[in-house]
Amino acid sequence: MSEAPPLLEVRELCTELRTASGPLLVVDRVSLRLERGQSLGLVGESGCGKTLTALSLMRLLPPQARVVSGQVLFGGRDLLALDERELRALRGDRIAMVFQEPMSALNPVLEVGDQVAEALRVHGRSRAEATRIALELLERVGVVPASDRFAAYPHQLSGGLRQRVLLAMAVACQPDLLITDEPTTALDPTLQAQVLELILELQRSSGLALLLISHDLGVVAQVCGRVAVLHAGQLVEEGTAEAIFARPRHPYTAALLEAARALHHRTSSDDELPAPPALPALRGAAELPSRWPPGCRFASRCHRADASCAAGSVELDEGTHRCRCRHPLAPAEPP
Ligand SMILES: Nc1ncnc2c1ncn2[C@@H]1O[C@H](COP(=O)(O)OP(=O)(O)OP(=O)(O)O)[C@@H](O)[C@H]1O
Ligand code: SF4
Ligand SMILES: [Mg+2]
Repeated sequence: MSEAPPLLEVRELCTELRTASGPLLVVDRVSLRLERGQSLGLVGESGCGKTLTALSLMRLLPPQARVVSGQVLFGGRDLLALDERELRALRGDRIAMVFQEPMSALNPVLEVGDQVAEALRVHGRSRAEATRIALELLERVGVVPASDRFAAYPHQLSGGLRQRVLLAMAVACQPDLLITDEPTTALDPTLQAQVLELILELQRSSGLALLLISHDLGVVAQVCGRVAVLHAGQLVEEGTAEAIFARPRHPYTAALLEAARALHHRTSSDDELPAPPALPALRGAAELPSRWPPGCRFASRCHRADASCAAGSVELDEGTHRCRCRHPLAPAEPP
């Protein structure tokens, strides 16, 4: 008997951006795999290509960007090969998305309850049924009392409540996959923790798979079972959250962790992130895509770099823990 395909399998995805100085490959052969009910965090610094990766999967890229090669298999079907009608049927129904800025995703002139109900109606529910389920969903995501909040307009709700409304809309049709891009970045730390808790609860209770995109390792550490690290458009490391956080192998991941831990220590007294191996904190800023070098793209900031790193392309090893580095940290290199 053949094995069921993973829920989401991204194979060698390449996305190009048109710029005044020519096309730039901003997503460079990214491969990801997400099983049903599992959670995968995609992390990396600003500009590394996280959002363009997510938009590529959903074919929602801005006009100046386009997928040039690769496959996005959802339950074995290539999303990149579907026509617009087939894709629309999957979006919102089997695959839901929540992005960073809730205000732009909500209609400012419609009551939030109606917006949740509409998400159900476009997928075949009657008006009465949709209203009843929308009320239940608002209650479930903490937009309470739902009977009062149903008729609120987006601007009458706080950022945290708006994000909860979006989550209610996202899970309304019981999707198999939820993609969230920086779902809590615009929120203050208390609300951030509450919304993350809600995402985790929805993921577990509804059995949906989660692709959570964040520049914040602390966010990913709280929610995800596996973590993929993106640097300059390329995946540089991927493994279980436990391995990535406790025993990172790629110098960039280790530096990111160290930087996150330093920030965490300044802002809190608890210890959610395990101590990474001692490394100098992330040095300098990431290069712009137009200046990515031909060899390892982290070489100019890496303390382990030697001439071989800049000389030619550095490929991702395959396996359960993947790493793109010529001189990775040893699996159990002591802190
Ligand atoms: N609409 C666009 N027009 C021009 N360049 C873009 C556009 N969207 C993204 N880019 C560029 O493509 C690269 C990848 O951007 P992307 O938004 O995917 O990064 P990101 O990892 O999501 O960053 P952030 O953490 O800031 O959201 C960046 O260099 C960015 O400046
Ligand atoms: S390939 Fe070389 S420069 Fe790149 S991360 Fe590894 S050691 Fe550093
Ligand atoms: Mg982004």
